[in-house]
Amino acid sequence: PETGCLSIIVLGASGDLAKKKTFPALFNLYRQGFLQSNEVHIFGYSRTKLSDDDLRDRIRGYLPQGKELTNDVSDFLQLIKYVSGSYDAPEGFQELDKAISEHEISKNSTEGSSRRLFYLALPPSVYPQVCKMIKSYCMNKSDLGGWTRIVVEKPFGKDLASAEELSSQIGELFDEPQIYRIDHYLGKELVQNLLVLRFANRFFLPLWNRDNIANVQIVFREDFGTEGRGGYFDQYGIIRDIIQNHLLQVLCLVAMEKPVSLKPEHIRDEKVKVLQSVVPIKDEEVVLGQYQGYKDDPTVPNDSNTPTFATVIYVYTMKDGKAGKALNSRKAEIRVQFKDVPGDIFKCQKQGRNEFVIRLQPSEAIYMKLTATLPRVVIPEAYERLILDTIKGDQQHFVRRDELKAAWEIFTPLLHRIDQGEFKSLPYKPGSRGPVEADELLERAGYVQTHGK
Ligand code: BG6
Repeated sequence: PETGCLSIIVLGASGDLAKKKTFPALFNLYRQGFLQSNEVHIFGYSRTKLSDDDLRDRIRGYLPQGKELTNDVSDFLQLIKYVSGSYDAPEGFQELDKAISEHEISKNSTEGSSRRLFYLALPPSVYPQVCKMIKSYCMNKSDLGGWTRIVVEKPFGKDLASAEELSSQIGELFDEPQIYRIDHYLGKELVQNLLVLRFANRFFLPLWNRDNIANVQIVFREDFGTEGRGGYFDQYGIIRDIIQNHLLQVLCLVAMEKPVSLKPEHIRDEKVKVLQSVVPIKDEEVVLGQYQGYKDDPTVPNDSNTPTFATVIYVYTMKDGKAGKALNSRKAEIRVQFKDVPGDIFKCQKQGRNEFVIRLQPSEAIYMKLTATLPRVVIPEAYERLILDTIKGDQQHFVRRDELKAAWEIFTPLLHRIDQGEFKSLPYKPGSRGPVEADELLERAGYVQTHGK
C-alpha cells in the first residue's frame, strides 16, 4: 500500500452534496481505519467565508449520531481545515496549496510520497475553471512520487456535445488515469456484485442470452418528488438525472460480455461495447410523465415539460429502463425475465415467467421467481467504496471518457426533442405507478406483468 500523507480536498465544501454524502463517506472510511490520522488531512474549500469550526459544526449534523461515536466524530472533525476562496481566481487556490503543503511538511512527507485527491462537489459549469486552478497552483510537487487525482460528479454534460466539450477541457489539463468520474450507482453493493453473480456462477452462464431471456427491466422508483431541488431538477429531468448515467451503467453490467480479466480497462472496454451497440432512442420507445403538483414548486416554471418519469425501451436484445419520482414506492432493481418454458404441462395453473431479480435498494436482495419455492445480504455506502477506490487508484468503477460519450449518444437526439418541446410528458398522480402508457409500452415490448400493478 502507498504511504505518505494524503490530502483530501473537498471543493464545494459548504454545499449539499458535500454535507450529505462526501463528508459522511469520509467519516465512515475514517472509522473503519482506511484513513489514518497520521497520514490524512481533509480540506474544505468554497466561496462562503467560514472558520474551521463553522465548517465542522455544519458537517457534524450529517454524521452518524450516538454516544459511542462521540470521540470518533470529534477526532475526525479535527482532521478538517477550511479555506475560502473563489473558483476562478488564483488567490484562494494559492492559499489552499499553502495549507496543503504545510500539512505535507508537518506529516513528514519527505519520507513518503504525497497524495492529493480533489473532490469536486460542484456544479459542472465550474469544472473547467477549477481544474485549471488546480493544475496551475495545487498539483502534488513531491519529488518522491505520489499523485494528484480529481473526482468529478454527474451531471457530466447536458448532451453529447456539451459532455465532449467538458471532457476535452478537462482532458487538456489531466490525463485519463487522473480523472475519476463518479457514478455512485457503481459503488452500490449489489451493482458491484453483478459481475461475480454473472460470471462466477455456472448456473447463469448458459442462460444469460437472448435465447432464454425475454427482457430485462432496470427499475428506479422514488416515492418522493423533487422537494427542494426543483430548480436543479427542472434543468435536467429524469433522463439526465438517473437514466443516462445510473441506469445505463447498470445496463452495461447486465449486458456485457465476460471481460478478459478484472483489470479496470478490460471491464470498461466491455462496457463501452454495450453502450456502442445500443441505438439512439426513438420516440415510439419512450413514455414520459410529469407528476401532478411538480409545477407548484416556485423554482419550477409554470410551463415546464421536464419529465419526472420515463420508461425507455433499449433496442439491444430487449432491455428497458424506467425511472420516476413521486411514485408509489421506493426501489431500484434489475428484473431479468426469462421466456416461457416450452411445452408447459401445467396449463391449468399458469404461474407466470421465471424472473431473476436483483434488488439494489432498499434491503438489498437477490431472488428468483420460480414456479415452486422461494429462497432469500451490512453494506457500506456507495460513496465510501468509490472514494476508497480513488485513493487506491482503481478506476474499475468509474466512467471512462469513451463510455460517457457513448452513453450520451444514446439519449441526445431524444433529449433535444424534449428540450424543444416536441415530446410531451404525460401527467400522472403522485403516489401512483406513473402513466399507464408506460405499462402499455412495456407490454408492447414483450414484458409480461408478473407482479401487482
Ligand atoms: C442522484 C439523483 O444522482 O441519485 C437524485 O440526482 C436521486 O435525484 C439519487 O434521488 C438517488 O440515489 P439513491 O442512492 O438514493 O438511489
